[in-house]
Amino acid sequence: MRPPRILVAYASRHESTAEIAGSIAAELRASGCSAALAETRTVADLAGFDAAVVGSALYLDRWDSSAIDLLRRERSALAGIPTWLFSSGPVGVGTATAHPERLPQPPDVAALADEIGARATTFGGRIDPATGGLDIEVMTTAGLAGDWRDFDRIRAWARAIAGEVKARAVVRDAPGEPVPAADAASDATPG
Ligand SMILES: Cc1cc2nc3c(=O)[nH]c(=O)nc-3n(C[C@H](O)[C@H](O)[C@H](O)COP(=O)(O)O)c2cc1C
Repeated sequence: MRPPRILVAYASRHESTAEIAGSIAAELRASGCSAALAETRTVADLAGFDAAVVGSALYLDRWDSSAIDLLRRERSALAGIPTWLFSSGPVGVGTATAHPERLPQPPDVAALADEIGARATTFGGRIDPATGGLDIEVMTTAGLAGDWRDFDRIRAWARAIAGEVKARAVVRDAPGEPVPAADAASDATPG
């Protein structure tokens, strides 16, 4: 049995979401899957993938347009394979960073997740003054510099995805067995 192929596509302006996506891809590989890491703006289609993870940094409560475009354009293909979505964003001390998984997705992302049958979650973000840029300066001046990414939770989320995709592949490869439908939209792991 070949390892399941999973696309990990992300949109990132200042690399923190890219690092989350990289960590997810590394954990999927360590868990026995094949993971292709790509920026959302470079993804042409979903051909050959058994599952997909798509994520974007949040800016002004919105996903990057390239990530939304990918969901819209490939909604049929994504609906046909298990798909997980993640937002990365909340920064600063407070309930948003203490429990980012409880945050609602932006309305357009939530609607597409419903349509696709994708599960979605949110991870904390990072403001690193060293990355530069006016937007980062504004957030730093507002006292929001820091790193709220929880890589233990991110890796656990990826491991749960790998487990589910591998179980599905075993069922699919067993002769005469039906393929289970993807579950309804919700977080893949607690907390
Ligand atoms: C100008 C600006 C606006 C932001 N708006 C939001 C927001 O609306 N919601 C949120 O959760 N995070 C927001 N953030 C935080 C970013 O999502 C966070 O820094 C994230 O880690 C950036 O990811 P990236 O490094 O991949 O671009 C904002 C950050 C900046 C600089």
